Amino acid sequence: MNTRPQPGLHLVRERRTVALFKPEKPPRELLLAAVEAARWAPNHHLTEPWRFYLLGHQTVSAMVEIANELTLAKRGPEAARKRRELMKAVPEWMAVTCRRSADAFRDREDYGACCCAIQNLMLCLWEGGVACKWSTGALTRDSRFHELLGIDAGEQMVAGLFSIGYPRIVPQQKRRPVAEILTTLE
Ligand SMILES: Cc1cc2nc3c(=O)[nH]c(=O)nc-3n(C[C@H](O)[C@H](O)[C@H](O)COP(=O)(O)O)c2cc1C
Repeated sequence: MNTRPQPGLHLVRERRTVALFKPEKPPRELLLAAVEAARWAPNHHLTEPWRFYLLGHQTVSAMVEIANELTLAKRGPEAARKRRELMKAVPEWMAVTCRRSADAFRDREDYGACCCAIQNLMLCLWEGGVACKWSTGALTRDSRFHELLGIDAGEQMVAGLFSIGYPRIVPQQKRRPVAEILTTLE
């Protein structure tokens, strides 16, 4: 099957999750443009369940300490030291939260909308030559991190923590062939 993307779809095909970044910070305008693009994602009943947090120096330092404690407890001092170095080398950090709902269906739909917004955000960054890594590790579920963001975990969940910067290495990725995932019904 010919799955060559149409012009304009190259961003979707070429965007990659990147973990290692060059030291330069991406321009603030690009981060703001990405948030601007993110909020045009589809969202049922126009709940706009997403909130975006750009983390400044003080917040990042506190976040790195929490991550350090988590890694130390789980994987020991060497792993914690390596993670701290990696985190400190990240040029920008952003968190995206999603409004919680007591209604399970609404909660799921809002999370779906947040994921659409995140894809918009990532594609907009990628268009500007900037990559990110979406993370949902233990840090994003830690009450100390929620406190740093100033969120109430009963009202908002962290849909993702994003390390952002110009890629040092862009990894290769692959996907299953379309024929394996597409069923055409008569
Ligand atoms: C909901 C979600 C959570 C993710 N959490 C993590 C994570 O915690 N750590 C990580 O390294 N990558 C995480 N990723 C990124 C995936 O690992 C990545 O998208 C996958 O390897 C495919 O690579 P690609 O994005 O370059 O196509 C997450 C992606 C999604 C959609």
